[in-house]
Amino acid sequence: MASVDVQVKQGRIETEADEVLVLHHYEGEAGLHDEAATVDRALKGLLRDLLKSGEFEGKNGQTVLVHTHGKIPAKRVLLVGLGRKKDAKLDTVRQAMGTVAKRVRQAGARSFTTPLHGRAIAGTTGLLLAQAMVEGAILGGYQFTAYRSDQAKDAKSLTRIRFIAAGASEAAQIREGSRRGLAGAEAAMFVRDLCNHPSNVMTPSCIAAEAKRIGKERGVTVKVLEQRAVEKLGMGAFLGVARGSHEPPKFIILEYRGPAGRASGNGRGSRPIVLVGKTITFDTGGISLKPSENMEQMKADMTGGAEVLATIRAISRLKLPLHVIGLLPATENMPGGRAIKPGDILMTLSGKTVEVQNTDAEGRLILADGLAYATRLKPKAIIDIATLTGACVVALGQFAIGLFGNEESLKRRIQQAGLTAGERTWEMPLWEEYFEQLRSDVADMRNIGGRGGGMITAALFLSKFVGDCPWVHLDIASTDWSERERAYVSKGPTGIGTRLLLQYLMNEAAR
Ligand code: BES
Ligand code: MN
Ligand code: ZN
Repeated sequence: MASVDVQVKQGRIETEADEVLVLHHYEGEAGLHDEAATVDRALKGLLRDLLKSGEFEGKNGQTVLVHTHGKIPAKRVLLVGLGRKKDAKLDTVRQAMGTVAKRVRQAGARSFTTPLHGRAIAGTTGLLLAQAMVEGAILGGYQFTAYRSDQAKDAKSLTRIRFIAAGASEAAQIREGSRRGLAGAEAAMFVRDLCNHPSNVMTPSCIAAEAKRIGKERGVTVKVLEQRAVEKLGMGAFLGVARGSHEPPKFIILEYRGPAGRASGNGRGSRPIVLVGKTITFDTGGISLKPSENMEQMKADMTGGAEVLATIRAISRLKLPLHVIGLLPATENMPGGRAIKPGDILMTLSGKTVEVQNTDAEGRLILADGLAYATRLKPKAIIDIATLTGACVVALGQFAIGLFGNEESLKRRIQQAGLTAGERTWEMPLWEEYFEQLRSDVADMRNIGGRGGGMITAALFLSKFVGDCPWVHLDIASTDWSERERAYVSKGPTGIGTRLLLQYLMNEAAR
């Protein structure tokens, strides 16, 4: 993957030479402001004419590209609309830059120069704006061409973004924001790639190999538990799911210990933050076979695990002063001859027994053992992330991650990170009343809860395996796959949740 070079300079923007100069305008504003006004003067009112004629109103996501014919050194100016100023948010800027990246590519250009956009947005900082701009621009240009032999493979991609800062302190903020933005974009693209690869390539073994590559990064150690070791430990639920497949299951453990910092102790004996990612490399449903329509999307049922991998790689590259452990129970869910069957009872790592009433509710089975393992690490927080339920898709659609948890402050910090990242969460109840739906006649519980509240009963099931540990569960089934391309969200696997996790950890490192 070609990486993007982000440069930060101080100086005047109208004298800067580049393929494209990117400026913004808010809908409903009478004139042009800041850099747009300066450049317009150099262009003798060319941009103002576009506003006057009504060709460009500054509506959210609207763009117009003009050639400068040598009036300024930059070849073209791209104006992007940010919508009404009072409605603009940090994510408006991220989205605008996603659109800009696509428009720049259409023009056949590979680089652009830009000021910081969105300075007028309340409650944000130059650092966050620069971060969002870099994320949007890079993610907006994402393409997966690994298996294509046509011209799409050589489509031009962005190679450089140059910021022109308004002063020394803004330049410093842009530098740090860009560093974080690059890390976030790189992590999310890594996840999109892993999820785009088909299940015949992206097997549990392949994911274990990816993890081992991450083990070469600074401060990361990786251990892969093979079937035998997992049996010895007693992960009967995870192994139950793996029985139907010929692909050997892997229980992958990544441990990151960053440099010592003022953040809450990451030296020896410090309590880790544990991330657990659902890693089903393909979900056929097992004996409770899924309908074939859209089943190919179940290659992305390992999104949670991919996000944990990408997050650990990113925090190591950012050298965050934290202690973080990632756990990936990785297997296929297949209906092979030795597969578990409805009615089978599994002994989980926690000692609780589960009656499998539907083999398609496999995510909670592998997570039950992943979470029980996490509690043994004496964590200060456990966060699991999973494409867990179709009910989450029904309840929340495309724009919210389902959030559950047993501790207020942890929930609030995760929600806040999601807001900053533009990956919003919505809290759902974890009331004990729902547990009656999970009662079994023959075991401690069953793995499905009937018709009502499917996202809730799945989360409540998980809650039985975290003991007293502070814990948050994120159901990303609604958002991990997009039916259409949006500003910076690709069609297909989106990688949503990755930047939320990374933002949370960046915030923790600064706490
Ligand atoms: N991986 C699926 C959930 C899913 C559905 C993710 C759609 C993304 C899009 C999960 O393993 C599953 O099959 N859940 C079942 C649970 C049911 C049997 C209780 C579901 O939601 O149908
Ligand atoms: Mn399933
Ligand atoms: Zn699944």
